[in-house]
Amino acid sequence: MTIGTLQKQSLRLANLHKQCFRHLPPPYSANSFQEFLRNETYFLAEEKYKGFAIARLVSEVAELITIAVDPNLRRKGIGKKVLDELINKVANAGANQFILEVASNNQAAINLYTKLGFTAVCKRKNYFRYKNFNVDAIVFKRLLEMV
Ligand SMILES: CC(C)(COP(=O)(O)OP(=O)(O)OC[C@H]1O[C@@H](n2cnc3c(N)ncnc32)[C@H](O)[C@@H]1OP(=O)(O)O)[C@@H](O)C(=O)NCCC(=O)NCCS
Repeated sequence: MTIGTLQKQSLRLANLHKQCFRHLPPPYSANSFQEFLRNETYFLAEEKYKGFAIARLVSEVAELITIAVDPNLRRKGIGKKVLDELINKVANAGANQFILEVASNNQAAINLYTKLGFTAVCKRKNYFRYKNFNVDAIVFKRLLEMV
């Protein structure tokens, strides 16, 4: 990938991420996305301008870094599509399990993960810290096979 392509892609991802995470947790900057894309342990699945998901793979365990779909294009199967594609990518790269953390009040994401075969393994109390309140995180896991 050329520098220009990498910069454009990082900006595109950062713009979309900002629309999806307006408050907390804070959105990743274009620089952060550039670091992710340069790092061979990070994997991206993207529907250009619509949505994307990123995971990091370390020692056969993939972890979801983020997933975001344009607020105007939700409930059209884009989240499921990019997450499915990401799962296939990390499985083919050697992951045998996929873990993620989700805020306990994020019902849309919880439903998406459950639909894709993830199961809740534990709760991390007050994991997300907002200005005036805290939210628990639920840790989800799915075992993977190479496809
Ligand atoms: C979570 C998110 C990625 C889902 O993306 P999406 O493209 O709308 O999801 P899909 O259309 O693929 O939906 C797949 C399934 O997820 C569940 N789901 C998605 N949005 C939902 C909602 N608003 N309410 C309830 N269930 C929902 C449903 O089970 C849905 O299947 P169905 O439409 O057949 O009922 C999207 O809402 C988003 O970007 N949210 C903001 C960022 C975020 O919270 N990321 C997760 C951080 S852990």
